[in-house]
Amino acid sequence: MDPHAYKQDFPILSQRVRGTQPLTYLDNGASTHRPQSVIDAQIQVDTECYSNVHRGAHWLSDVATDRYEESRDRVQQFIGASDNREVVFTSGTTASINLVARGWGDKHLGENDEIVISEMEHHSNIVPWQQLAERTGAVVKFIPIDQTGHLDLEAAEDLISSRTKVIAFAHASNVLGTINPVADLMRLANAVGAVTVLDAAQSAPHMKLNVTDLGVDFVAFSAHKMLGPNGLGVLYGRASLLEGMDPVLGGGSMIHSVSVDGYVPAAIPTRFEAGTPAIGQALAFPAALDYLDAVGLDAIHAHEQQLCELAHRQLAEIRGLTILGPEPAQKTGIVSFVVDGVHPQDLAFALDQQGVAIRAGHHCAMPLHAKLGIPASARCSFYLYNTEEDVAALTAAVRKAVNLFS
Ligand code: ALA
Repeated sequence: MDPHAYKQDFPILSQRVRGTQPLTYLDNGASTHRPQSVIDAQIQVDTECYSNVHRGAHWLSDVATDRYEESRDRVQQFIGASDNREVVFTSGTTASINLVARGWGDKHLGENDEIVISEMEHHSNIVPWQQLAERTGAVVKFIPIDQTGHLDLEAAEDLISSRTKVIAFAHASNVLGTINPVADLMRLANAVGAVTVLDAAQSAPHMKLNVTDLGVDFVAFSAHKMLGPNGLGVLYGRASLLEGMDPVLGGGSMIHSVSVDGYVPAAIPTRFEAGTPAIGQALAFPAALDYLDAVGLDAIHAHEQQLCELAHRQLAEIRGLTILGPEPAQKTGIVSFVVDGVHPQDLAFALDQQGVAIRAGHHCAMPLHAKLGIPASARCSFYLYNTEEDVAALTAAVRKAVNLFS
């Protein structure tokens, strides 16, 4: 794995920040960049094969439709799904989870049913369930986290009962990086017949994901966090469950027929893709998956863990700095931290002046920060193009900022 060589493939990373500092991009949890091959694929789509899909009475629409369905097949293969009808294109992870909450949840949940999520969820895996609870009278329960930033599985076992209808959890935390024990949670879910929803926004880009091996019912992730175009997401759903779900958005494409008396929805997955979808994005996405496969997801995961280890070692030497969450071996490439007496926003501002891009705030995980007893944190998140020099730049910038503020 040669991150320096990969970095050369990403034109945006060779820029200087405000014309002076080299860019050290450590905000990959929020969004990643696109290699030249994905940029080329986007240009190729726009110059050779863009048209609307599934409507065509002409050659270009047929070309676009074929490519759109080939993209679906490529995603199916990438995530190890057994059936291409189980891949629904959405606008992103948020839309994917909302689709399950509305399309499946509205139909199957009622008063006193329980939805189990965890304290480390992103708001996109909390609020759709709270909204579902508001609509149905169901109750949302939270699996607590322990001192080390892991889910408390004993508490989960106590929480999950025959009233539990759905268990939704992050594969990897967007703040702590913690990789959650899918097999253990699946065992608890299967024991009570609960449906499982995996938020893979922070795992699909960073480690090998096989939905069949994991055995989960639904999986959500976004293309823009894995070198792909933004505005495109995926919902994997078990075919038997998708077939029982109502469409959430009505409109063009999602119907079999419409009359003045009503409508008959299309088969899955088209039923869930109302309107004109993110065609250009879907057509270019396979180039990102090809890039990831060429590097290798296992190699990416190992590389990020090495950078995490280095960052942990170097940052731990800085006075007053506390790293949140587990040790590098138990997480993806995310290092969140707080520094005594320095607000994370001030820290991020000072780092930005030195060309180092991180994220600061609650990272759309307010319940997690409340549990940790802090309003905000600073987060750096690595990807395949980050190097040891990036870690050194981060450490030097944090050290300088801390000296400045103290
Ligand atoms: N969900 C993205 C993040 O954690 C935006 O930064």
